[in-house]
Amino acid sequence: MNKSFRSIKILDTTLRDGEQTPGVSLTLEDKIEIAQQLDKLGVDIIEAGFPSSSEGERKVVKEIKKLGLTSQICALSRCTKKDIDAALDCDVDLIHIFISASPLQMKYAVNMTPEQVLSSAVESIEHVKRHGVKCEFSPMDATRAETPFLHKICKAAQDAGIDSLNIPDTVGCMIPRTTFELFKTLKSVVNVPLSVHCHDDFGLAVANSLAAVEAGADQVHVAVNGLGERAGNAALEEIVTTLHMVYGYQTNINTRLLYSTSRLVSSLSGISVQVNKAIVGENAFAHESGIHTRGVTEQPLTFEPISPEIVGRTRKLVAGKLAGARGIQVELNEIGIHPNETQLAEIVRRVKELGDKGKAVTDADLIALTSAVMGQVIGEEKIVDLCDMAVIAGIKVIPTASVRLAFEGKEYIAAETGVGPVDAALKAIEKLTNPLGKIKLSEYRLEAITGGSNAVAEVVIKVEDEKGNIVSARATREDIVMASVEAMINGINKCLLKNRVQGNKPS
Ligand code: KIV
Ligand code: ZN
Repeated sequence: MNKSFRSIKILDTTLRDGEQTPGVSLTLEDKIEIAQQLDKLGVDIIEAGFPSSSEGERKVVKEIKKLGLTSQICALSRCTKKDIDAALDCDVDLIHIFISASPLQMKYAVNMTPEQVLSSAVESIEHVKRHGVKCEFSPMDATRAETPFLHKICKAAQDAGIDSLNIPDTVGCMIPRTTFELFKTLKSVVNVPLSVHCHDDFGLAVANSLAAVEAGADQVHVAVNGLGERAGNAALEEIVTTLHMVYGYQTNINTRLLYSTSRLVSSLSGISVQVNKAIVGENAFAHESGIHTRGVTEQPLTFEPISPEIVGRTRKLVAGKLAGARGIQVELNEIGIHPNETQLAEIVRRVKELGDKGKAVTDADLIALTSAVMGQVIGEEKIVDLCDMAVIAGIKVIPTASVRLAFEGKEYIAAETGVGPVDAALKAIEKLTNPLGKIKLSEYRLEAITGGSNAVAEVVIKVEDEKGNIVSARATREDIVMASVEAMINGINKCLLKNRVQGNKPS
């Protein structure tokens, strides 16, 4: 790998292509929060929206521009005067104009001849440039365009004054080799900064974007968590981490904010991140098997290509049927528990026994097993305790819960509404314990472990604090709301305990 110095620009399109993810609809406030986070993260350009698509969208772009962020603000526009004027009205730094360039799209998507497409692109670029605004041009579906036409429209766009040329792989049909060749050739056809915009229809968006960079692209379009039309765009966190850590290139991104950015976008968009997703997935820095846990605790590089802190994460050792003594010891030491050798061997045996029964071994289970083996109540300190709780649910009432908790020698009460009584109760708990370390529910699983209407319910939850510590806990009860509340409080207590032993004062 050539590690010669290069600096690559990042254009983030989470707020535009990312919002085209089926099922995602962000409010003005959500978009402002995301834009502020992207700015802190250090993206060079934020594609804030498509102003001509609705009044609301135009307002969003205007408001984001008014924030006075360091990142440049870009608006998307078709090659029409009406669209461009809507973008100009938002006072953006850059207008990204696009028009279909493949035979298929020219005929069926826009019903234009190649000549009409060419002149429309040129007129639009000139219109933007007459207003003294930067212009990026995208020949949409470029990767299925006929090469002579693609070269012709790119040259015409350059002559009309574009500041950068973006090549979209609109339906994600490229592979790294063809992407490399396309960009290498384009470098000899035009002399403007090149950008790449890849979709993930075949799971190759990141690989193709990197191939374009290898061939000389100066900028990559990305979206947080890989959001975007259909299978999404190239994931910001994967592109940036690979550019920094594998290629040794530079971007303006502060990689330590990658994880918190991913969490923010996931919670506002409602699109959860798959557990095994690179960099930001829950398991990306989790180790269970004995060989791995021993390896990483001796020398992290054995099974971690980068240290989790670089991307704002922490390592997690997981107790389970494949666990080894070393990993379990480290996990227990982290919460201030120090079993002797014989006790440790017995704890490991019991963990594996539970794992062999097909049970996920939660952090709380590990502490309970350890208490039993060591013959003493450990890790049971209730930093937060439930005093009482009431829920209202039924037809034509909004599910509401009021919860009273005791911590730090005082009692606190909060009421919340939710989609059901469990949601309302857990939200009230989150609200009350927020000052202790912003601990949030990150996963909830419910199982009926006996049949009938009086079935015993088992709730397994995961909570995560602001430092990225993830703790799991379970509770079993006949009442689902109580099982959920108990599991949540259990998880919060274990998380606070972990923080306390690590010497981290909650902020
Ligand atoms: O995928 C695409 O072609 C686009 C264009 C608007 C650039 O998102
Ligand atoms: Zn796109």
